[in-house]
Amino acid sequence: MDSDQVPRGIDPSKAHPARRYNYWLGGKDNFAADRESAETVASGFPTVRLSAVENRKFMRRVVTYLAGEAGIGQFLDIGTGLPSAGNVHEVAQEIAPRSRIVYVDNDPIVLAHARALLTSAPAGATAYIDADLRRPEALLAHPELRKTLDLGEPVALMLIAIMHFIVDEDDPYGIFATLRDALPPGSHIVMSHATDDFLEPEELAEANEANKRSGVPFRLRSTEEFTRFFTGLELLPPGITSVVDWRPDVPEDQRAAIDDVSMLCAVARVP
Ligand SMILES: C[S@@+](CC[C@H](N)C(=O)[O-])C[C@H]1O[C@@H](n2cnc3c(N)ncnc32)[C@H](O)[C@@H]1O
Repeated sequence: MDSDQVPRGIDPSKAHPARRYNYWLGGKDNFAADRESAETVASGFPTVRLSAVENRKFMRRVVTYLAGEAGIGQFLDIGTGLPSAGNVHEVAQEIAPRSRIVYVDNDPIVLAHARALLTSAPAGATAYIDADLRRPEALLAHPELRKTLDLGEPVALMLIAIMHFIVDEDDPYGIFATLRDALPPGSHIVMSHATDDFLEPEELAEANEANKRSGVPFRLRSTEEFTRFFTGLELLPPGITSVVDWRPDVPEDQRAAIDDVSMLCAVARVP
């Protein structure tokens, strides 16, 4: 995208995670600042594109499981990203056409593309909310959310590749707890999160330095820090794993290396 095609309200000179992720996935909805930031991250963590692709594949597998086997009919997808092949509503409604999905993101360019996210199957529903995960109470009280989802029935809360943008000062565990407490029993929480567990000390130093220079606050977390989010919840098998190993659909010798992907995930049930 050229800077002269900028939708109103967007600052193309500042890198944003949604557009950067779109660049890694091979999309065209990004500006020079996003591409520069993306390349800076790649200079410290060269397999970041693979990580984005594997994360997206995990998302499809997990929605397939939730809409099918688990029988979940409502999804709250926070940190939706730019529409791309296999958005949550497409995967879920293919299996269960009555599925209802609320998408949330805080990037104005995702908002500009939101119509593509709102093409619900006639039997179901989709809504888009322009809101910030760092204000979970406002997000939960949003009239569009209340209109689209019944919080008295199980919901799948999707936090896919977003919590690593919540730095410690923003109280990630507090935000998670607020969302968790709003969900009825039988709900599921899905999270994927970049980790530093597989990086050698020099690689970690490079990755952290590159993230700092990229202009987007980012917080890698260890398996222990990731596990803390799930206290009191029932982890579904296989528990906390790399996104590559969560109920994989290809044989082991065809899977990406977990240290190249460096992304943890888990699916938990609210008791
Ligand atoms: C790496 S993308 C992940 C997209 C999608 N969940 C996926 O996994 O394919 C992260 C998304 O989170 C959004 N995001 C980051 N911080 C956010 C915040 N505080 N509130 C809402 N959205 C946020 C970004 O705009 C971006 O679209």
